[in-house]
This record gives sequence, structure tokens and C-alpha cells, in this order.
Amino acid sequence: MNMIWNVSICVTALVVVLISRWWYRWSNPKCNGKLPPGTMGLPIIGETLDFFKSYGFNETSPFISKRMSRYGPIFRTNIFGSNTVVVTDPDVMVEVFRQENTAFVFSLPDAFGIVLGKDDAIVNHGKTHKHFKQITLNFLGPEGLKKKLIGGMDRAACEGLRSKASLGSFNLKEAAESLIIKHLIPKLISNLGAEAQENLMDIFMAFNLDWYQSFFSLSTWKSLYRSFTASRAVKKVISNVLLSRKESGEKHDDILNTVMEDEVLDDKYVIFQTYVIPIAAKDTTSVMISMAVKYITSNPKVYLELKREHNAILQNRVDKNSGVSWEEYKNNMSFTKMVINETLRLVNMAPVMFRKTLVDVTIQGYTIPKGWMVFLATSLLHYDPAIYENPLEFNPWRWEGKDVVNFSKSFMVFGGGMRLCPGAEFARLQVAVVLHHLVTNYDFTMAQDSEATRTPLVSFPNGMHMSISPIN
Ligand code: HEM
Ligand SMILES: *[C@@H]1O[C@H](CO)[C@@H](O)[C@H](O)[C@H]1NC(C)=O
Ligand SMILES: *[C@@H]1O[C@H](CO)[C@@H](O)[C@H](O)[C@H]1NC(C)=O
Ligand SMILES: *[C@@H]1O[C@H](CO)[C@@H](O)[C@H](O)[C@H]1NC(C)=O
Repeated sequence: MNMIWNVSICVTALVVVLISRWWYRWSNPKCNGKLPPGTMGLPIIGETLDFFKSYGFNETSPFISKRMSRYGPIFRTNIFGSNTVVVTDPDVMVEVFRQENTAFVFSLPDAFGIVLGKDDAIVNHGKTHKHFKQITLNFLGPEGLKKKLIGGMDRAACEGLRSKASLGSFNLKEAAESLIIKHLIPKLISNLGAEAQENLMDIFMAFNLDWYQSFFSLSTWKSLYRSFTASRAVKKVISNVLLSRKESGEKHDDILNTVMEDEVLDDKYVIFQTYVIPIAAKDTTSVMISMAVKYITSNPKVYLELKREHNAILQNRVDKNSGVSWEEYKNNMSFTKMVINETLRLVNMAPVMFRKTLVDVTIQGYTIPKGWMVFLATSLLHYDPAIYENPLEFNPWRWEGKDVVNFSKSFMVFGGGMRLCPGAEFARLQVAVVLHHLVTNYDFTMAQDSEATRTPLVSFPNGMHMSISPIN
């Protein structure tokens, strides 16, 4: 009896020692220098659940702001099983952007990889990234927009709104997604039959970036699964088209053709490049459109000024049947651009940007070990009262007289450096075109319950319902 007693005391003591050593190692990871301050949370899950708590639309991540006030602008944590350093200092962010693809590379947490497929095309670096970026920019940048995209974009917005007029209430987010997908798909793959095109649209519509509600909600896992299935289906459709084009040697004037002809990108990248564009465009831009309309409906002064600007454009238009032109967008929409900038700032789409270190990096006296994740919390800048007076106020006039820039030390909604969002101008133009048709042709109201939350991506728990009717 005594013997058993002694043995069990010894075993318990051993277990306690092992666990505390494990815990100690977990909390104090190896580092050839001084780690940033912070806590690593529980073994294995780290502080993941805390990081993913949802918060109010008018807030920035409480997870980050709490630790920032405790530890300063750089701190360590563990999220998704990865040791991670969170950065909130804009100078450090600029430094990270500067060392893109040398000390830091883009990298996604595993949860995203599960949806998109574990595919190294997603985290393309170096030469493939350069080619990827150049093609995307040619397509989505000012030249591509002006020559290839604006016409279809304009018609889709015009028809999309017309189809909803006087129908009662509809979900603006979904309507916006659908009109974006409708004009983008033929530009990506121009030789799909009507049925195949409808089918591909349906698949893209099923793919959602706002699948995350909570780890414990069934709808999270359902929509995760839906997105997973959709992403596989899209890849299959594209690879079939790719195969048949290779066999027949046909050429088409579309993005798939351009990527196929690139000498660096192999099939894997061709498929990725073709399907990533609608996915990146659809959820982001539809959230922007929904929130812009919401802000406009609740700010009568903004609405009147916007209406004045767009009615003046209409009056000056020679061919009354033509849509929004590139020149009008460039020269005659200065207030619209202020509204869009202010919406981008407040919507504050990306809570953090993901990077991984390729080597040990020393920044501001701290060492970030090789292989750690680095989260750039650019979103905190946009709600910082030291930068933006009354940051929660929707005030387009704060942008008056300022150049429209996609990047500055106080405005990083599109990221920065080599990975700066190539869809920035596309998104701005798409919002401007929808607003143009909306304010010049329709009276509109937004449902009272159209609220926004952050989970932490922006989502609309009750949808974004509105109704529109033609102005007499
Ligand atoms: C308001 C809308 C949008 C916002 C706020 C936004 C935001 C961002 C951000 C922050 C990044 C950088 C990610 C990083 O550095 O880790 C990014 C990258 C990217 N965005 Fe956007 N985006 C928007 C719209 C679009 C649209 C409309 C498209 C395509 C039509 C697009 C395509 C892309 C692509 C392809 C990348 C990857 C660039 C690269 O890896 O070099 N985005 N976006
Ligand atoms: C639009 O801009 C052009 C070029 O600056 C100008 O000539 C024209 O009068 C403007 N139109 C309106 C309606 O403001
Ligand atoms: C940034 O904005 C300017 C317009 O101010 C535009 O010409 C340029 O193409 C944009 N850059 C990107 C990457 O979208
Ligand atoms: C916070 O954001 C919501 C959008 O969901 C908006 O309706 C509300 O007025 C905002 N509140 C404040 C205090 O700015």
C-alpha cells in the first residue's frame, strides 16, 4: 500500500515538473536576442480564441489595443499555433514593407489555407510574385480599367440597379457581389457558353470571405465548407478551360490567355491567378458599396453634395445614353473620391496583414526569430485620434484638398510596398460607378436593422437591406 502511494506521488511530481517545463518553454520561446514583451497564452491554442473574438464595427481589435497599452507597440503572442509578433508602429510597418520578399514574406495562417487549398501559389514570392503582380496591375490598374473594364462595369451597375427598382427590399451586399462577378467573369474567361458562365458565377457567389462567426457556431463550419467546395469547383472549371485551350491552341482576349502566355507562371499559377481576382474583388468591394450607401443615407449633407456632383456630370455629358467615362471619373468626382476615402478609412477592411520572417530580424531593439509570423495591425492607424480628429465621425471633408493616395504612413487600407493591393483603383472606380447611377436615378432608403460588426472581418448579421425607386 505504502509502495503504491509513494510511486503515485513520484509520478504526479514528475508530471507536474514536465508540464511546468513544457509550459515554461511555451511561454519563453528560444530567441537569439531579446523577444518583444507579451504572453503566449495556453499551450497549443495560444491566444487564438481571444484574437478572434468579435467586436463592434466602430472599434479596432480590443485584443490588440489592450496588449498595446500593456506592452507597447510591438508584442509577442501565439495565434493559430504560430509564434507571432504583432506590430502597431507605422515606422516598423514601413520597414517590413521595404524588406518584403527578403526578410519578410507573405504567409497565411493555416485556417485560410484550408479554405483556399494548401497551395504554394497563394504565397508566391520572388519572380512568380513579380509576374503575378505585373499581370494583375495591367488588368486592374488605370490602363486596364479605362480600356477594358469601365464599360462592362458601368452596364452591370446600371442593369443591376434597374433590376432591383421598385421590387421592395433587397440585400445590397449580395446585389453588389453579383454585379461585380457578372462583369468580371467574361473578362477573365471570355469563351464560356451562357450556361457555363452562369454556373461559374454561382460558384463564385458561394465563396465567402466572411465565413467566420465564431469557432463554436455551426454556421461558421457550414460556410467554411461551402467556400472550400466552391474553391475546388472553381479550380476545376478553370483547369478544364485551360486544358482545352492548350489542346486546341486557341487564343482569346482575356486574362486567362495573358497568364497562359507568361513564360514564368506554370499551370498552378495560371489557375490561381484567374480565380483569385473575383474572390479578392467581390467581398471587399461589396462591403465598401454597402457601407458607402449606409453612410450616405445617414448623412443628408453628404447625400446632397454627392447628388449635386453627379447631376452636374450628367448635365455636361454629350451623349446622354453613354455611361460613366474614365475622364468623368478622373476629373469630375472630387467629392465622390473624398466619400470613398472616408468610407475606406472607417470600413477598415483588413484587421491585420500577415507576414513570416525568413531570418532573425532585429527591429527597435527586439529580435523576431526566423519562422515567426508577423501581424501588421494597420487598422489601428485609421481610428487613431492623433491622426484623424474625431475618428468615428463620417466626415468626407477631412480629405478636402488632399491627393488621393493608396498608401501613406497614416493610410494603409490597401497595405503597402510590393504587395500593395492591385485592385485599389478598381475598387474605387466600382464604388464611384454604383454611386453615380444610384444618386442620379433613384430615391433610396436603408433598412433600420442594417448593422455591421467585425468577426473580425466586417460582416452584416442582418444583411444590408435597402429599397430603391426611380426618381420621377
Ligand atoms: C475596398 C476594397 C479592397 C481592400 C480594402 C483591399 C485590401 C487589400 C490589402 C490590404 C492587400 C494587401 C495584403 C497584404 O499585404 O498582405 C490586398 C492585396 C490584394 N488585393 Fe485587394 N483590396 C480591395 C479590393 C481588391 C479588388 C477589387 C481586387 C481585384 C479586383 C483586389 C485584389 C487583390 C490582390 C490580387 C492582392 C494580392 C496582391 C499581392 O499579393 O501582391 N483587391 N488587398
Ligand atoms: C469635368 O472636368 C473637365 C476637365 O477638368 C471640365 O472641363 C468640365 O467642365 C468638368 N465638368 C463638370 C460637370 O464639372
Ligand atoms: C494608386 O493611386 C493612383 C491614383 O492616385 C493610381 O494611378 C495608381 O495606379 C494606384 N496604384 C495602385 C497600385 O493601384
Ligand atoms: C457605429 O457603426 C454603426 C454601423 O454599424 C453606425 O450605424 C453607428 O452610428 C456608429 N456609431 C458611432 C457612435 O459612430
